[in-house]
Amino acid sequence: MLTLLNLLKDGQFHSGQALGAALGISRSAVWKQLQHLETELGLSIHKVRGRGYQLAAPLMLLDPHKIAVELKGWPSFILDSIDSTNAEALRTIEQGKPAPFLVLAERQLAGRGRRGRKWVSPFAENLYYSLVLRIDGGMRQLEGLSLVVGLAVMQALRKLGVPGLGLKWPNDVLVGRKKIAGILLEIVGDPADVCHVVLGIGINVNMQAADEVDQQWTSMRLESGKSHDRNLLVVELSHQLQAYLRRHQVEGFSVLQAEWESNHLWQDQPVSLTAGVNRTDGVALGIDSHGALRLKVDGVEKTYSGGELSLRLRDDS
Ligand code: ATP
Ligand code: BTN
Repeated sequence: MLTLLNLLKDGQFHSGQALGAALGISRSAVWKQLQHLETELGLSIHKVRGRGYQLAAPLMLLDPHKIAVELKGWPSFILDSIDSTNAEALRTIEQGKPAPFLVLAERQLAGRGRRGRKWVSPFAENLYYSLVLRIDGGMRQLEGLSLVVGLAVMQALRKLGVPGLGLKWPNDVLVGRKKIAGILLEIVGDPADVCHVVLGIGINVNMQAADEVDQQWTSMRLESGKSHDRNLLVVELSHQLQAYLRRHQVEGFSVLQAEWESNHLWQDQPVSLTAGVNRTDGVALGIDSHGALRLKVDGVEKTYSGGELSLRLRDDS
C-alpha cells in the first residue's frame, strides 16, 4: 500500500494502468489498494475519468536516508504505523537495543498523552518522535528533563519560522492558548542508578483539522501559513535536543532556569494546579533551579513537582 502511496505522493495524476504496471498488479488490485488508502489512512484521492488518480494534496513522507545522513549518532527506526512510538521504544529497550536511538512513525493508532490521555496522530501530517536515552548519572540527570525537552522543541519550531511560541509548565509548547506540541517522558529501570528514559514528542506540523482534539490546538502550518517538511523538522529538533541535553548533562538544570522563565507564557498569571481531586489556586512565579513550579499561594511562595500535576489559567474559558 505504501509503495502505491510513494507513486502518488507527488500530487500528480497517475493512470490505473501505469500504477498497475509499476506495481506489477492488475487495475482492480490498484483500485482495492486505493480504497484502502482512503479508508485506512484517511487520505483523500481524486478520481477523474481519462486522467486517473491524484492525491488531494501532495504528500511528503519521512525519508530514512535524509534523516540518517544528518543524524549520525542516533540510529532511527521509521515505521509506517504503530500503536505508539513511546510504546515501541519501550519494547525495543526490552529487546536490548543500545541507546541512544530514535523511533518515528507516520501515524499512531494509540498515541498517548499524559495521564493516559489520547494523542491524536493522523497519517503523515504530524511528527511522532521518541528518543531513547540511557541515564546513569542518577536523579540529577532527570531533574528538569521534561522542561529541557520543551525548550528544545520550542527553539526548533522557532528556527523553522513558527511565531508566537511559549512554554507552559511542565512541558507543553503553546502558541497563545493553543497547544502545538506535547511531551511525554517515560522511564524504565532504576532512576537512582541506571535507567532508560523515552522522550516522546508530538508536534502538530501540517494538520489543519482534527475534530477529536478536545482542547485548543494549532499546528506549524496554521501558524506560519505554509506546509513544512517533517524531515527538516526531525533534523532541527534532533540538533536542538543534542545541544540542550548536553548542556543539561554537563551543567545541570539550573543554567537553563532563566531561559525557561523568559519563555514562560503564564509568568505572574493567576493559575490553578490540580493533582487528582486536589486543587491549589495561586499566582505562577516561575520555576526553581530544579525545574519545580513556583506558586504564590495565600501570599507564601511554594514549589511543586511531579508527573501528575496539571496547570490551568484561572480565567480559562
Ligand atoms: P495538562 O497535562 O497540563 O493537563 P493538557 O490539557 O494539554 O495539559 P495533556 O494530558 O498534556 O493535557 O495532553 C493530552 C490532551 O491533549 C488530550 O486530552 C487532548 O485534548 C489533547 N490532544 C490530543 N491530541 C492532540 C494533538 N495532536 N494536538 C493538541 N492537543 C492534542
Ligand atoms: C501530552 O501533551 O499529553 C503529551 C503528548 C505526547 C505525544 C507524543 S507523540 C510521540 C510519543 N508517542 C506517544 O504515544 N506519545 C508521545
